Amino acid sequence: MPFLFLPRFAKKLVIFLTLVALTVVQPASRAADFKRDVIYQIVTDRFFDGDSTNNNPPQSSGLYDATKTNFQAYWGGDLAGIQQKMSYLAGMGITAIWISPPVDNENVNIGGASIGAPYHGYQGRDFKRIEEHFGDASNSFTAFDNLVTAAHANGIKVIVDFAPNHSNNNNNGEFGAFYDNGTLVGNYTNDAKLYFHHNPNISDYNDRYQVQYFTLSNLADFNQENADVDAYLKSAAQVFQQHHVDGFRVDAIKHATWGWLYSFINSIYSTADTFTFGEWIADTTSDPLYHDLYKFANHSGFSALDFSLYHAIDDVFAWGNSFSEIDGVLAQEASNFQQVNDLVTFIDNHDRQRFLSINNSQNRLHEALAFVLTCRGVPAIYYGTEQYLHNDTIQNNDPNNKGNDPYNRPMMVSFDTTTTAYKLIGKLAALRKSNAAIPYGTMGQRWINNDVYIYERSFAGSVVLVAINKNESQATPIGGLFTSLPAGTYNDYLGGLLGGSPITVTDGGGNNPVSNFTLPAHTVAIWTFSPDTPTTPVLASAGPDVAQPGVQVTLAGSFAGNNTVKFGTTPATVVSSSANQIVVTVPTVGNGNYDVRVTDSRGHISNREPFTVLAAKLIPVTFTVNNAIPTTFGDYIFLTGDTVELGNWNTTWDGAVGPMLTPNYPNWFLNVSVPAGKTIQFKFIKIAGNGAVTWENGPNHSYTVPTSGTGFVNVNWQN
Ligand code: NOJ
Ligand code: NOJ
Repeated sequence: MPFLFLPRFAKKLVIFLTLVALTVVQPASRAADFKRDVIYQIVTDRFFDGDSTNNNPPQSSGLYDATKTNFQAYWGGDLAGIQQKMSYLAGMGITAIWISPPVDNENVNIGGASIGAPYHGYQGRDFKRIEEHFGDASNSFTAFDNLVTAAHANGIKVIVDFAPNHSNNNNNGEFGAFYDNGTLVGNYTNDAKLYFHHNPNISDYNDRYQVQYFTLSNLADFNQENADVDAYLKSAAQVFQQHHVDGFRVDAIKHATWGWLYSFINSIYSTADTFTFGEWIADTTSDPLYHDLYKFANHSGFSALDFSLYHAIDDVFAWGNSFSEIDGVLAQEASNFQQVNDLVTFIDNHDRQRFLSINNSQNRLHEALAFVLTCRGVPAIYYGTEQYLHNDTIQNNDPNNKGNDPYNRPMMVSFDTTTTAYKLIGKLAALRKSNAAIPYGTMGQRWINNDVYIYERSFAGSVVLVAINKNESQATPIGGLFTSLPAGTYNDYLGGLLGGSPITVTDGGGNNPVSNFTLPAHTVAIWTFSPDTPTTPVLASAGPDVAQPGVQVTLAGSFAGNNTVKFGTTPATVVSSSANQIVVTVPTVGNGNYDVRVTDSRGHISNREPFTVLAAKLIPVTFTVNNAIPTTFGDYIFLTGDTVELGNWNTTWDGAVGPMLTPNYPNWFLNVSVPAGKTIQFKFIKIAGNGAVTWENGPNHSYTVPTSGTGFVNVNWQN
C-alpha cells in the first residue's frame, strides 16, 4: 500500500520505524574499541573491478594484465569495487576492512617484458595521494572517500595498510623517489639530506641493528630520525585520518625504527580515535626477537599481528599437529602480552600460503575459522576464504612454496552468500557483538588431546564454551568436562552448522560438570551464556592505553546510568557515555601507570584497566653513549630516567629502555620517544646476561626535549 493511503497511526509507525532504522545506521562503535570487530583483509587489486576506466592509467600505463595470468601485474580491482561489494561484506558480519596500501605507488615497470608492478601497494611513491589504479588518474581521494562513506553506512570500519619503513625499490624503477602530494621530496640515489639509510639488505633477521637500519629486500629504507621524514610520515597518516579512516595496519614494524614508532603511534592517537596494529613477524615464541616484540607491544600502544599463533594454527589445523601446540602458544603469549585480547589473529594472509593450499579440506578450514573467531584476539579473515579461494601453483619446483606469494593473491571469482564459511563467519561475528566473553574474556583450556580442543571464554558472567574435534573420521567421547556455564541445557549456538549438539550442565558450585557426550568427527560445537546487564559497571578495555593528558580514550564495557571515571584518584572529563562505551579525556596527572575505574551513580565501582599517562606528546630522540663500560656476550647497555617514557628509573630488561645498539662498539645508541618540551634526567646502565645492573657514575644527564621535530643526544659514559 502506498504511504499516502496508510491510516494515520500507520504513517506514524512508518516514520517512527524509519527513524529507528536511521539511528541504527549511525557510525559504528568508536574505532579504538575494536575487540568486537571482525576484520576482512583485502588485496584491493584482486577483489573486484568496480571501475574499468582506471585499469590502465596514463601515468603508469602498461602495468595492467587483462588476462589476469601474470601475478605481478595489476588486474583491475579497485576501491570502487570494494564499495560495490559492501553489502556482501556486511552480510557476512564483517565490521572492519583492512585494505592493502592505497597510496600512490611506483609507476615504472620493473619486470621487463613480463610486467612487474606494485599491485600489492608496498612500493609507495606519494603517501598523500591515492594510487591511480585504485582511484582515478588525478590520484585524488574521491574513490577513497566514497568507499569510507559506504563502509561507515554499513557499520564497517576502514583500516589502511600503511608502510612507513620504506618507499620503493632502491636499485631500479623510481629508485626510492617519494613525493609530498605531488612535490618530489627525495630519492635514494641522490640523498644529500639523508632521508634514507644506505646499508645493505638485511642478512641476519635476528640482529636488532640490521633489522631496523639495514634494507628490507631492496626497498629504500626511510631514516625516520630525519625531521623531514618524521614529519612526512606522520602527516601522511594524518591525511588518511582526515579522510576518516578508523585504523592502520602498520607494515613491517620490526624493520622500522622501534623507538620512532612510539612517537608515530602517539601522533596517530593524538589526532583522532583510531585503532592500530603492526606487523612484526616472530613465527614462534622462541624467535630471538619475540621478547622485543612483546616488550614493544606492552609499552608502545601498538597491537600486533599474532604470527606465533598463526604458525600454531597452521601446524595444527592444516598440517595435523596436536592441539597441544596451540595450547602452548596461548599460554606463553598470555604470560607475556599485557593485552592479549588486542592481538590480531589469522589463519593465513597475503604473505603466507592459503590454508586450502596446504590442506584442501573444507572441514578443516571451517574448524580453523571457528577457532580463530572464538579464540582471544581480533580475527582477520583473508579475502576469499569464505569462497574457498586458492591457487596452488608451485614456485620453482619447490613443493613447500605451493600457493605461496604471489599465488596466494588470486582474483576473487565468486561472491556466493550461501557457502558454509560465509554463514559461519556471520554467526560468529554476531556472537562477538552479543556475548562479551568473546571480545574481552579470558581463554582457558577445559579438555584436550591431539584432535580435540575444548576451551572456555569468560568475562563478567558471560561464558562461551567451544569444542572442536578435528579428526576426520573418529568421534571422541567427552567425560570429566567442567565449565562455568550455569546449570541448564544448552543448544549448539551454530545450530548444528558444523555438527554440534546440545549439552547438559549441572550445578557444581561454579565448577559445573557437563554430562558425558560424544563429539562427532570434524565437529565444532559452541555453547553460550550471557547474564542480564550486570549490576556493577564492567570495564573491558581502554583504547588507546598509552597517551598524554588531553587525548580522548574510549572505555568499552557494560555501564549504566551516570558514570564517573578516575585515573588513579583523579577524575577524568566524560565526553560521552552509553551502555557500552564511555569516552573520556586523559586528565592532567603526573606521568606514570594508573588504574582506570568507572563508578556508577549508585557508587558501584568497576574492575580496573591499566593505563600509561605520558608526560607529553612524544618526540623521537637518538641517544648515543660513547665508550660504555666493557660488556661480554649477553650484556647490554640500557637507558633509564625520571619519566615513564624512560621507565621511571626501572633497571630491568622489560622496564628500562633498550637494549641499545652497538654498530660501533663500545659506543651504543638508541632512538627513543620522549616527552616534548620536558627536561628529562637520565643515565645509562649495563644489564648483564644474569640481570646484574651496573650504573654509570656521576650526576644524572639532563636534556630538554625539543617541542617538535627530532632530537639527538651524545654523551660519554661516566666512569
Ligand atoms: C610485509 C608485507 O605484508 C609484505 O607483503 C610486503 O612485501 C613487505 N612487508 C614489505 O612491505
Ligand atoms: C636513580 C636516580 O636517582 C639516579 O640519579 C641515580 O644515578 C641512580 N638511581 C643510581 O643511584
